[in-house]
Amino acid sequence: MLEIAGLEAGYGGFRALHGVALTVRAGEAVAVVGPNGAGKTTLMRVISGLLAPVAGRLAFEGADLAAVPPHRIVERGIAHVPENRRLFPRLSVEENLRMGAFAPASRPHFTERLEWVYSLFPRMRERRAQLAGTMSGGEQQMCAIGRALMSKPKLLLMDEPSAGLAPVIVDQVFDLVRRIRQEGFTVLIVEQNVRQVLELVDRAYVLEVGTIRRSGSAAALQADPAIREAYLGI
Ligand SMILES: Nc1ncnc2c1ncn2[C@@H]1O[C@H](COP(=O)(O)OP(=O)(O)O)[C@@H](O)[C@H]1O
Ligand SMILES: [Mg+2]
Repeated sequence: MLEIAGLEAGYGGFRALHGVALTVRAGEAVAVVGPNGAGKTTLMRVISGLLAPVAGRLAFEGADLAAVPPHRIVERGIAHVPENRRLFPRLSVEENLRMGAFAPASRPHFTERLEWVYSLFPRMRERRAQLAGTMSGGEQQMCAIGRALMSKPKLLLMDEPSAGLAPVIVDQVFDLVRRIRQEGFTVLIVEQNVRQVLELVDRAYVLEVGTIRRSGSAAALQADPAIREAYLGI
C-alpha cells in the first residue's frame, strides 16, 4: 500500500532522514520506534506531504506521492493524527471533527461519517458541544483520531498518540488504536512507548538518527537482545 525507498529529507542544510526504506501492506499495523530526535515526525510529515523530500521514492497504492500537496494526499486516502494532537482548542469537539471532512470528496458524507465516529467513540458524542481544549488529554487524543477518521482514510498515520499522557490514559489510547485496527484500518504508528506498541502491531522499524537500524515482526523485535536492552529495559 505504502512504499518508501531511499528517502532523504531535512530542514535547510540539515538532513534528518538518510536513505529510509519502509513498506506498509494493506491491513497491516506497522510501528516506527526510536528515541527523541530520530526523525520519526519528519517521516510522518513527508508521507503526508507537509515536508518535501530531498530525494527518494514514495508510492501509495502504486502511485507516486512526491510533490502531491497535503490536501490531495488526504483525498488519496492518507490521514495524519499529528504529534501533540493539534486540535483547535477553542472549537467544539464537533467543529474539530468537521475539520477532518474538509476535502470536497468528504463533505457530502459529513453527517454519516460523524455518526460513524460517534458510534466508535460514544464519549465524543457526549462531549460534542464541549470546547476541545477543556477535555482531558486522553479525550483530546480520541478527538484527534476521530478527526482523522472523518476522511475515511485507507491509511492512518499516528504520531506518538501516547505522548504526554498519564499511564492509565496511555493504556486507553492503545486500546483505541487496537479498536481502529479491528475496524480494518491500515495503521502506521510512531511511538517512543516501544513495549506497548510492539504488543499491538504486526511489524516495526527502529529509526535512530535518521536511519532504519532494524526491522522485523513485532515478535522478532521483542525477542531481539539489542532491542530488549535499549528499548524494553530487560
Ligand atoms: N522544523 C525544524 N527545523 C529544523 N530542524 C528540525 C525541525 N524539526 C525537527 N528538526 C530536527 O530534525 C531531527 C528529527 O526530528 P523529528 O523528526 O522531530 O524527530 P522525532 O519525531 O523522532 O523526535 C531532530 O534533530 C530535530 O532537531
Ligand atoms: Mg516526533
